[in-house]
Amino acid sequence: MEYWTHSSLQRSVVPLCLLLFLCISTTTFLKAKAFNLTTLTFSDSYSPLFSEFNIRRSPDDKTVHLLLNRFSGSGIISSDYYNYGFFSASIKMPSKYTAGIVVAFYTSNVDTFEKNHDELDIEFLGNVQGKAWRFQTNVYGNGSVSRGREERYRMWFDPSKDSHRYGILWSPRKVIFYVDKIPIREVVRNAAMRGDYPSKPMSVYATIWDASSWATNGGKKKVDYRYQPFIAEFKDLVLEGCIVDPIDQIPSSNCTDQIATLLAKDYSSITSEGRKSMRWFRERYMYYSYCYDNIRYPVPPPECVIISSERERFKSSGGLRSNIRLGATRRRHHLRRITKRQSKTAVAASGLEALI
Ligand SMILES: *[C@@H]1O[C@H](CO)[C@@H](O)[C@H](O)[C@H]1NC(C)=O
Ligand SMILES: *[C@@H]1O[C@H](CO)[C@@H](O)[C@H](O)[C@H]1NC(C)=O
Ligand SMILES: *[C@@H]1O[C@H](CO)[C@@H](O)[C@H](O)[C@H]1NC(C)=O
Repeated sequence: MEYWTHSSLQRSVVPLCLLLFLCISTTTFLKAKAFNLTTLTFSDSYSPLFSEFNIRRSPDDKTVHLLLNRFSGSGIISSDYYNYGFFSASIKMPSKYTAGIVVAFYTSNVDTFEKNHDELDIEFLGNVQGKAWRFQTNVYGNGSVSRGREERYRMWFDPSKDSHRYGILWSPRKVIFYVDKIPIREVVRNAAMRGDYPSKPMSVYATIWDASSWATNGGKKKVDYRYQPFIAEFKDLVLEGCIVDPIDQIPSSNCTDQIATLLAKDYSSITSEGRKSMRWFRERYMYYSYCYDNIRYPVPPPECVIISSERERFKSSGGLRSNIRLGATRRRHHLRRITKRQSKTAVAASGLEALI
């Protein structure tokens, strides 16, 4: 298929690695050994969810392109429901002008439990040309839609340039969100969370859609269909966990052995090296956390672990302090000024754009 031969739509954005000190610290973490994962073909793992005409599969069925054009976005859903598991894919975001676009990789059971569903989200938010992508993670349990647990981050690379593996570990003990091998967020289950911790079988979704009303600058920047189609590429599909029948309710499914296997996997716990890389990421790239938003939650929800090196970046509104918004450190601020003369793009990549 000729379609698969023209892949270089992307414009090269001068990466953050121009800032040498970031480059050094990034590569140290990225050298960590990759997880031992078994990848699946599309037909072994997913089915179309909506707008099949905008879903393109590679001849070997290992890569799937989800398109957004002026007619529709598109989405896929795992063919099975899982009672805990590890779910991941290597994803490459659309390039060029991506304001208003959301690419989501998430687990949910809203189809089965409309009123009290569970959900784990990774959502990527496009941006105006030259400005960096951002992303957010969220956790819902038993219909806790009024108690959002959002965190928002900048990316330390251009996600439209290469594929990166994004993963969600969901075990009875904890949730871990991964970007490549870096655990970017850990939510340890806490008895006080009660039903807010996701615990019913979920399926896995990947979608691209038009979120013009909110995704970029609070909805001021819309999807610009002159740049269509917008293509999100998904490959290295991994779905590991206990497959259950959602109709056949939880107690009758026995996942004991498979959950024990899941808990023993390397991605189910964070090594001391992993903790270092998690701290590295969160101290530099997280720009909102519900745990530090004391206006919204005067008492942080029970699972929140307040870490002073993270905490000091935020105002009580949960947003970044203004001196940090300009650049994480004096040093970076200084570098920013130097780089400005060399490349406008690098400044856009290192600067923080308006909060959502
Ligand atoms: C990777 O996983 C497979 C199957 O789960 C296993 O057979 C193999 O020994 C593992 N390899 C390593 C290096 O751990
Ligand atoms: C989950 O929600 C249902 C319906 O709202 C409620 O009856 C049940 O007690 C909740 N479960 C937990 C563990 O909170
Ligand atoms: C679940 O499976 C384990 C191991 O296969 C077994 O020991 C246990 O009795 C089973 N429990 C139920 C409720 O079927």
